[in-house]
Amino acid sequence: MDSKRVLLRDKYFVPFLTREEIARDVRAVAARLSADLPTMERPFALGVLNGSFVFAADLLRELDAEMPIHFVKYASYAGTESTGEVRQMLGLAVDVRGRDVIVVEDIVDTGLTMRSMIEYLKGMGAKSVRVATMFCKPEVFQGAFRLDYVGREIPNRFVVGYGLDYDEMGRALPDLYVLEEGQD
Ligand code: XMP
Ligand code: MG
Repeated sequence: MDSKRVLLRDKYFVPFLTREEIARDVRAVAARLSADLPTMERPFALGVLNGSFVFAADLLRELDAEMPIHFVKYASYAGTESTGEVRQMLGLAVDVRGRDVIVVEDIVDTGLTMRSMIEYLKGMGAKSVRVATMFCKPEVFQGAFRLDYVGREIPNRFVVGYGLDYDEMGRALPDLYVLEEGQD
């Protein structure tokens, strides 16, 4: 048995990416975003809670320049299955009008959450909305929008760690784990 296998509530997860691999991906995203920042209009990062808190913290500390950050809450997941239903965004306490917004996500799956978020922010008058996501699942992505900054593409498997949770467990794991086969 893999000694690094972890049990979260009723499910086992196995190692998928190390913290070093993740850190390299974060630095690559930060370099590309840093290069684009000077061309942007009063940019700020908008982290999507809860999952993005780890990536947002790492990403901002790797940027070459200072950038403000705000957070909103917005979720479409229950357990390990997408509910397909996108709930209301909560807590946008910043004027987005005329500004270039960089939405910071832990993971983009189908893209439904992000699509409503982009529409909402544009409706509020954002000049542009870009997406920075640590992970994405190209096999299930259905969005008609671009993912501007992607840390790493992963297969369509349920992952935890690095901010991502299974039923609120596992967010603080520094490495990324994947649900062990045969349990979902
Ligand atoms: P959609 O399908 O709207 O979903 O792009 C995005 C949200 O779903 C959550 N999500 C996951 N959470 N492990 C998780 O812990 C996963 O593998 C996973 N895939 C999607 C996540 O909250 C994201 O914001
Ligand atoms: Mg999330």
